[in-house]
Amino acid sequence: MKYLFFCLFLSSTVLAQSDNQYNLIPFPARFSGQNGQFSISASTRVITSPATDATVRAVAQTFVNQLKAANDLSLAVAPTSPALAKGAHIFFALNKKLNLGDEGYKLTVTPGKVLAEAATSKGLFYAAQTIRQLLPAGKSATVSLPACAITDKPRFGYRGLMLDVGRHFMPVPFVKKFIDLMALHKQNTFHWHLTDDQGWRIDIKKYPKLTQIGSKRAESIVGQYYQNYPQQFDGKPVGGFYTQEEIKDVVRYAQTRFVTIVPEIEMPGHAQAALAAYPELGCDPAKGYQVYTKWGVSEDVYCPSEKTFGFLQDVLTEVIALFPGKYIHIGGDECPKTAWKNSAFCQELMKKNNLKDENELQSYFIRRIEKFLNSKGRSIIGWDEILEGGLAPNAAVMSWRGTEGGIAAAKQKHAVIMTPGATCYLDQYQGNPATEPLAIGGYLPLDQVYAYEPMPNELAAADQKYILGVQGNIWTEYMPTPESVEYMAFPRAIALAELGWMQPGPHNFEDFAQRLKNHLPKLTGVNYAKRLFDITASTQPNEQGQIQVVLKKLDTDSQIFYTLNGKEPNERSTEYIGPITLTKTTTIRAMTRTGGAPTGGQLTQTFTLHKGKNKPYTYALAPDQSSDPTSAKLTDGVRGDTPRSRREWVSFYGSDMDLTLDLGDITSVTKVSLNFLKIILEKGFPPTAVEIALSKDESDFKDAITQPVTYDLNGPWAILPVVADFKTARARYVRIRAKNAGVCPAGHPNAGAKTWLATDEVVVE
Ligand code: ACM
Repeated sequence: MKYLFFCLFLSSTVLAQSDNQYNLIPFPARFSGQNGQFSISASTRVITSPATDATVRAVAQTFVNQLKAANDLSLAVAPTSPALAKGAHIFFALNKKLNLGDEGYKLTVTPGKVLAEAATSKGLFYAAQTIRQLLPAGKSATVSLPACAITDKPRFGYRGLMLDVGRHFMPVPFVKKFIDLMALHKQNTFHWHLTDDQGWRIDIKKYPKLTQIGSKRAESIVGQYYQNYPQQFDGKPVGGFYTQEEIKDVVRYAQTRFVTIVPEIEMPGHAQAALAAYPELGCDPAKGYQVYTKWGVSEDVYCPSEKTFGFLQDVLTEVIALFPGKYIHIGGDECPKTAWKNSAFCQELMKKNNLKDENELQSYFIRRIEKFLNSKGRSIIGWDEILEGGLAPNAAVMSWRGTEGGIAAAKQKHAVIMTPGATCYLDQYQGNPATEPLAIGGYLPLDQVYAYEPMPNELAAADQKYILGVQGNIWTEYMPTPESVEYMAFPRAIALAELGWMQPGPHNFEDFAQRLKNHLPKLTGVNYAKRLFDITASTQPNEQGQIQVVLKKLDTDSQIFYTLNGKEPNERSTEYIGPITLTKTTTIRAMTRTGGAPTGGQLTQTFTLHKGKNKPYTYALAPDQSSDPTSAKLTDGVRGDTPRSRREWVSFYGSDMDLTLDLGDITSVTKVSLNFLKIILEKGFPPTAVEIALSKDESDFKDAITQPVTYDLNGPWAILPVVADFKTARARYVRIRAKNAGVCPAGHPNAGAKTWLATDEVVVE
């Protein structure tokens, strides 16, 4: 029954898509497309009721302003009157009887008029955003809205995005643009990460050095965090902060778009920029704290002294005066305890207060801050570490290290925002790491974001109400500009917006992708990523047993052009019309075009053809859990082509590698080669030696060739090849043993710690 309903629902959506008229994101709870159009021109009146309600008029005015900015349409707002109600109009009407919650709305578009109804002005605002999405892309003097009837309300009350302006400052006009994009997709909470080790970005009148000193860092790391050993720095100062007037302006702007701002003031960790300004707040004031120039987590944190609590209460008092929302985010994540362990003051404080360890000291810290904020009528949100050592009584928890923290907090009847790293951290790669802009690592394509279900199924029905909603996080270590933030945030944040709003049930990615494809061109001036249009490749054998490559893409109306010689493809390259047969190792590069223009889809992939491809192998020593769960990666024909991502690599932590590959039959083997990763700073060392041996019967291994692996410890990360040349051997089994480097040497930040080694394809020729 449920399945049938789902199919019906989808087919009506797909039907709606076919004429590219309705491409609503998030998709409404109830939708019906109808015949006809409502034309908007300069003479169309926007009318409101009741005439005296200022909040409704404000919504109508914001709508008119948004139409002017995005579509260059000049409309006027007027209170309703019998004369106006006779002509073509867009009517925003409060209807207290509607039973759709405080964000729900009804929207009816007919050729004669547009009627938006809601019980609140917020609901009317969302109706207005739906109207904006129904408009065609681009600017023109008259446009039409397709007729439809919509009844809509959100699934979750909290639909958020976090922007980190600590690592890179983002200017006010961009922050407003970001908030406008959130509102367009019906997100209602902007989490503004205002302070971190690498920069303090909010003016605090009582402590001017926070911005005079704390908002400036001398330089940043070159490349990815682990790229160079030792790390290199660029010598370029980075700074910026918001004045209180600018903050008030942004808060007002957000209010007109029904976006609540949750400001984050990080404590007790991620505080080094504050310590650089006021060293007396740290446990070792003589240390000479500087605004942190590395990424990651500084060990220098606030000392839990009365001086620190006085400072933070003063800061929070100014923060409260600027931000009217219920929640203040106090961070709480990643607070190393080294400084507290080494501090006689902290150890004494723990004894005095019967705190059994530093986790309880962190809890003590957070509880004191919570008590202060509660006394001012506010509530705290913290990252899930605030569970450790005991949760403060009224705290809400942001679950980022997976979903466990959120589940535990909900079971304790605390409010929870789900933002697990694997699916909600939008700083990860969204396409091929080798060709994407540098990112922090990981791999989170759009479809994996969309596949996330925010409600943990571990939760009993009675506890589900504690899950307030879902949030995407944009950490900006590798996003120095607004353009780079836009590229990483969109469209993945739009997928999260739909997850936060759309009613539960299976969500269909293809349907979302179709709507998104038609919606994206409306985001003029936004540097969104076009990975949705990328080409994916898979292989299949043809009747002669040769390898064929099949290229696919989500959109149906573009053409694929490709090269096989490594050159950049263009419209004069070969057009893809069917599977490409390969007879040797080949790099396929492809691009997509629609109607003569590139759509942005791309592919660069090397297919390594060799005798070991798709052949089974067994490990004598198991690799790291999850790095090769089905024992297939080392012969899948895909080589790890970049140290930026560990996706294609199989790793062995603190262990040698020892595996045997079965070619199936005794065949001639002339060469066996494989690559190893070198990421010294991350403890990734190439093996000290690799032995490759052959056998016809799996027991009598002969012809062993031992290759030493040499490299410079210093310098950038690298991929190191190892090749064993057998000339004319015959064998069925190939055994590979690689010797782990052991421990990190003296001088390494992790001296004495175990190293890992990682390899990818075992290529047999
Ligand atoms: C976090 O990513 N440290 C919350």
